[in-house]
Amino acid sequence: MQIVRTIAEARAVVAVLRAQNKSIGLVPTMGALHQGHLSLVRAARAACDAVVVSIFVNPTQFAPSEDFSKYPRTFDADCALLQAENVDFLFAPDAAEMYPPGAATFIAVEPMGDRLDGASRPGHFRGVATVVAKLFNIVAPSKAFFGQKDAAQVAVLRRMVRDLNFPLELVVCPTVREPDGLAMSSRNRYLSPEDRRSALILHRTLRHIEDRVASGEVDSAQLIDVGLGVLADEPDVRLDYLRIVDPDTLEDLPDVKNGALLAIAAHVGPARLIDNILIPPR
Ligand code: PAJ
Repeated sequence: MQIVRTIAEARAVVAVLRAQNKSIGLVPTMGALHQGHLSLVRAARAACDAVVVSIFVNPTQFAPSEDFSKYPRTFDADCALLQAENVDFLFAPDAAEMYPPGAATFIAVEPMGDRLDGASRPGHFRGVATVVAKLFNIVAPSKAFFGQKDAAQVAVLRRMVRDLNFPLELVVCPTVREPDGLAMSSRNRYLSPEDRRSALILHRTLRHIEDRVASGEVDSAQLIDVGLGVLADEPDVRLDYLRIVDPDTLEDLPDVKNGALLAIAAHVGPARLIDNILIPPR
């Protein structure tokens, strides 16, 4: 696996792959890799001739009050994991390489970028869309791989790819969970054993709502009430949002008859965690 630090080097590497007519799969990450990330790498490996992973803790998607400076950075362990997955190239630029002084162009996907996590984290999806567009321009992948775990991110990026005519396919991979149901996340490292136990309430809430849908309830307000009842079991978990929305526009839906995205975000100890389930059309 070749580690590439600059945009010029990345472009040179990509030019060689293109000249060989190789399809390129890109997996953008912020590092602190776990099995969720590796599932995307494996999907890329299976679908493309060459796999490029990026590791870049993107400052523009963190608000000043957020965890940018203490976001877990485990570069050596990440490299070993990627090497074992036969990744061809790791693009790991620093912040000055990606945002030279005077960088002034940002991508806003409106109004979707202000919904769900975009409402709780103003500017977050502007940072995500901008850095992902830059990675697309640098790597020029034929396919780019993202996790369903970040469902709002997927909606925003899908719309960006469509609106800006990026010539690539966005591939969405299922959420990878711990055996007890907790969605894998780099931020799970922040959890104490007690928090780790409390964090299970996110998935349990989604599952209870899903069960209620299976037994015939379709009304969103009723279903949200069921969820709030479950969440009351863990008073230390601070709910950010529990919403039933259209997976493409992130707008609230009055019912789940035509399918829906059921999404939750909550603060557990020092971590803000998210999870979601897609409810199929009834
Ligand atoms: P990061 O949180 O590192 O996640 C990188 C990719 O891994 C995202 O597509 C995310 O959805 C996926 N992922 C994370 N946990 C997962 C899980 N449990 N199962 C399946 N996929 C999972 O998301 C970002 O970084 C950044 O916003 C980024 C897109 C890299 C832009 O900076």
